[in-house]
Amino acid sequence: MHNRPLNRREFSKRAVGTIAALGSLGSVASACASLPTAASIRPDPTPLDARRAAALSGADMAAWRQVAQLARLVPTPHNTQPFRIRPIDARTAEIVALGERFLPAEDDGNLYMASAFGIMAATIEMAAKAHGLDARVSPVASLDVAALHTATSPTLLGTASIVGPEDMQVQIPRYARDDNELLHIRRTSRIPYDGRLVLRETWERLAAATASHGHQLIEHHDPDVVRRTLRLNVDALLDNLRLTDERREIQRWYRLGPTPQFGDGLWEKPMNQDSFEIKAAFGSPGFFGLPVVRQVARRDYLATQRGTRHILLLHGPFAGWPDLVAAGRALFGLWIGMAQAGVYVQPMGSMLTNPRYAAEVARRFDVTDCWLVMRAGYSAEPPRAPRLASILI
Ligand SMILES: Cc1cc2nc3c(=O)[nH]c(=O)nc-3n(C[C@H](O)[C@H](O)[C@H](O)COP(=O)(O)O)c2cc1C
Repeated sequence: MHNRPLNRREFSKRAVGTIAALGSLGSVASACASLPTAASIRPDPTPLDARRAAALSGADMAAWRQVAQLARLVPTPHNTQPFRIRPIDARTAEIVALGERFLPAEDDGNLYMASAFGIMAATIEMAAKAHGLDARVSPVASLDVAALHTATSPTLLGTASIVGPEDMQVQIPRYARDDNELLHIRRTSRIPYDGRLVLRETWERLAAATASHGHQLIEHHDPDVVRRTLRLNVDALLDNLRLTDERREIQRWYRLGPTPQFGDGLWEKPMNQDSFEIKAAFGSPGFFGLPVVRQVARRDYLATQRGTRHILLLHGPFAGWPDLVAAGRALFGLWIGMAQAGVYVQPMGSMLTNPRYAAEVARRFDVTDCWLVMRAGYSAEPPRAPRLASILI
């Protein structure tokens, strides 16, 4: 386990220091025991048998191996990576979801996970394009979204078809490098931004692209709106820590230690949190309710978001299948568009999964169907979050 040494002054300045001073080290230590380390990547319920592994390594599956290698980079809530590509033949693959990787306590009704399938569909199409292939992903016609997390075997969500080129050996596409690069440079940035404003034309272009998926992008850069929204978000984060089911669910995805090359979940570096803070949050959530601790924790967290100049809201139909797929495609288009413009983003989902805060967002911004709030701006390159070695099954 990686514990950055903390000098006395730094320690006493921090929220976790305050918590420790209040005598909670015992519970912090006990929480530490249940947090996974680098060695504990969540195993899949359906490991590949030798025959399937051999079939997937055949020459006819080469295109799917290439596509899956890049599509692994798809962003998913808490880096749960619940989607798998199941090739049927050289040109057809099923896209399935693993229910045990869902977040039913926090993501009531599995709406965010279902929308993430839309992100996956768009990512597969872009990954194919990067290899000179033309792929289309079609969602299944209907789906019981709310039951997805209860499935004990992979659930079919859609089918990916490679529709071109006719000769799959021709793989030197004109824009391959750009697409490949964009999939790699698109990341979540939880570090401070540098205070520069993004040009209005960039937002106008991104809003038009978002509208093409039936969703609206709203951008705010009034400093007061930005400040008040970041504060609302940190309050939601701290209050959500006290929701036992949600906290236990998220805790399963927190990982301590240096970020490995392959993995899932939320690691210290990409989260911009150290192990001590993480252990305190899960070991002593009640202490964050104490006014003095809460104040210090808020201040420390907001310091990680300094320099933020933009708040973004995405809104539109977000209730059923296949609207959720379109929502995910809209978010992916926006995220890649921002990556193209050198702009980073951090989704702030905690405000919307908590009904009390969602109502406050609706009131403040006068929108009834907002499903994602984000902060955006320019930052240094954020640390990378790991991905599983393979998503082919
Ligand atoms: C629908 C959705 C909601 C997300 N919500 C949050 C969030 O509330 N806070 C956060 O820090 N990251 C959030 N993320 C970012 C993921 O944690 C992130 O994509 C994942 O850890 C992989 O990291 P990467 O985006 O840097 O590749 C969200 C991602 C998606 C797709």
